[in-house]
Amino acid sequence: MIDQATIDRIMDAARIEEVVGDYITLKKRGVNYTACCPFHNEKTPSFSVSPVRGIFKCFGCGKAGNAVTFVMAHENLTYWEALKVVGKKYGIEVKERELSPEEQQHNNDRESMMITAAYAQSYFSQTLHNHVDGKNIGMSYFAERGFAKSVIEKFQLGYCLDSRAAFSSTALRDGYKKEFLVKTGLSFERDSGELVDRFYGRVIFPIHSVSGRVIGFGGRTLKTDKSVAKYVNSPESEIYHKSSTLYGICFAKKSMMQLDKCFLVEGYTDVISMHQAGIENVVASSGTSLTHDQIRLIKRFTPNVTVLYDGDAAGIKASLRGIDMLLEEGLNVKTMLLPDGEDPDSFARSHSATELTDFIGSHEEDFISFKTKILLSDSKNDPIKRAEVITDIVRSISVIPEAIPRSVYIRECSKLMDIGEDVLTGEVAKLRRKKLYGGDSEARKPAPAQPTPDGATPEEAVHTPSIPAFVENVFCREQEREIICLLLQFGSNAFFDTSVSAYIINEIAGEDLSFQNLEYQQIFEEYKKLLEASNTVDVRHFINHPDQRVCEMTIDLLSQKYTLSKIWRQQEAAITDEDRLRVEVPKAINVYKSKIVTQAIMRLQAELEGKSNPEQDMLLLKLGELSKVRTKLSEMLARPVF
Ligand code: CTP
Ligand code: MN
Repeated sequence: MIDQATIDRIMDAARIEEVVGDYITLKKRGVNYTACCPFHNEKTPSFSVSPVRGIFKCFGCGKAGNAVTFVMAHENLTYWEALKVVGKKYGIEVKERELSPEEQQHNNDRESMMITAAYAQSYFSQTLHNHVDGKNIGMSYFAERGFAKSVIEKFQLGYCLDSRAAFSSTALRDGYKKEFLVKTGLSFERDSGELVDRFYGRVIFPIHSVSGRVIGFGGRTLKTDKSVAKYVNSPESEIYHKSSTLYGICFAKKSMMQLDKCFLVEGYTDVISMHQAGIENVVASSGTSLTHDQIRLIKRFTPNVTVLYDGDAAGIKASLRGIDMLLEEGLNVKTMLLPDGEDPDSFARSHSATELTDFIGSHEEDFISFKTKILLSDSKNDPIKRAEVITDIVRSISVIPEAIPRSVYIRECSKLMDIGEDVLTGEVAKLRRKKLYGGDSEARKPAPAQPTPDGATPEEAVHTPSIPAFVENVFCREQEREIICLLLQFGSNAFFDTSVSAYIINEIAGEDLSFQNLEYQQIFEEYKKLLEASNTVDVRHFINHPDQRVCEMTIDLLSQKYTLSKIWRQQEAAITDEDRLRVEVPKAINVYKSKIVTQAIMRLQAELEGKSNPEQDMLLLKLGELSKVRTKLSEMLARPVF
């Protein structure tokens, strides 16, 4: 871990124009610098760097960030790696925090384990290539499977002799410690203290970290005996965390970036055969369901994933849920079903690279339609099953973070399932609302109002009318954006006897409203937490946010000059920020609420058509209540400011 003080020092030292200037040529223009954007192709510069704010932004492709996220994006590094690069530039030594003796020991242990694993890999490969059994048994097996020498070497495949302790005893003799042989899981220790090999009699698939170091192994049996486990794998250890590793990632990452796409398969052999066929952007989840860490690992290199399924996989349905996680992380997911009886391994071996690419090109299918079809074909004319399918698909769509792909899917699925688009939209919105809230709406009551110096309570002055509880939240991007913009730009400004941020939070959270745009909601929630923890919030928390999306959005909002209403422009000199905000902030909230209420009224009116008593009465009652709120809101909006 890098400690916060060091992070702050790096952030303070980093001059954005210097960091960016190391990579591209900047031209000074006024207080800012411009250049052609390094993140998309352009001839006229729309990339701008602001030394004052410490940020960059491209007005062409929208990419934005700070010094560290620039290095991240440009060199494809993690946040921590980029932080170190920038630290180094300014001579700030990133001591991964002063380590305690125990931690130091822990680090040394990890390193010793890595060294032991590297030794084992080379021992197993040596055995495969040079030992008589390695050649006759291990190599014959790979040859029979059709693995070429090139991939055997590239993936550093190996063989572990079929004698209980051949590896362990050689390792001990070569000076490797028992402790690390056991900790890496390469050896078991018997009660007698003797070591036994974990992988004896198996061919070896080393598992590499992103940077290419060996961290674990998979050993496949050569026996067809069903009572023997097909694979034995390294156990969890300090260097091998199965759930955050993807098999093949270190060999795939470059191609993943270049082709901006990744294939996801199940097993070691699938990855290897696809490489042999010339497709390198492929990784395996190693037979288990995907984890968030694995998905994030993919996302470091590309947002586009195609999941390859065996033609006869009974497990397709079981794995569908796992794919929802890919959607949730904002990845673009496609799927491809291989011909019956084939898996990626067999298919890649029986086809040329071009055939393989062509087949993929013409059989790839968008995941949501794929899932819809699979589930529907199963439910036939059973209305209950059909309803379940719809619920299931709605859930999948609702986890997609971006609104536009969500609405595209809704349209697509409404056709596939023959169900109204508006019904689907409503269901998706309902689920998202539920997810955002979690449920604890009790705690959100407005704080009691304090009198202001001039006697009027802010309650009267600025509290916007409440929205009845039955109203559904709607998506109003512009209004949500406006409020978050005010929060970020003016959050710590005074607002009567409180602050702009406290007021906004009270008005939104206190009413159980939440933003439908998930990034806005995240900023809002984090802001709220920070404010609860300490009295002020430094907007740099969001500018320097490790989540690239939050960082980009913040910069985007900050670089938009808040547009003043006309009235201010005429008398600008005499009016303070505080005066302006006393009007602008409640107004933004008011407009937001008006929009929600107006939508609700329209929906009710539509519903009312064709309804008869007593349903009609119920709707009319609600309608009446809403009209009153709307009137109050518009009265407030129309109220003269002075
Ligand atoms: N796996 C495992 N343990 C098992 C079976 C499978 O760890 N007993 C994991 C392995 O990572 C394997 C993946 O699940 O690569 C996929 O399983 P499977 O398709 O059965 O194995 P393949 O690697 O495809 O092996 P083969 O083609 O030789 O059958
Ligand atoms: Mn297989």
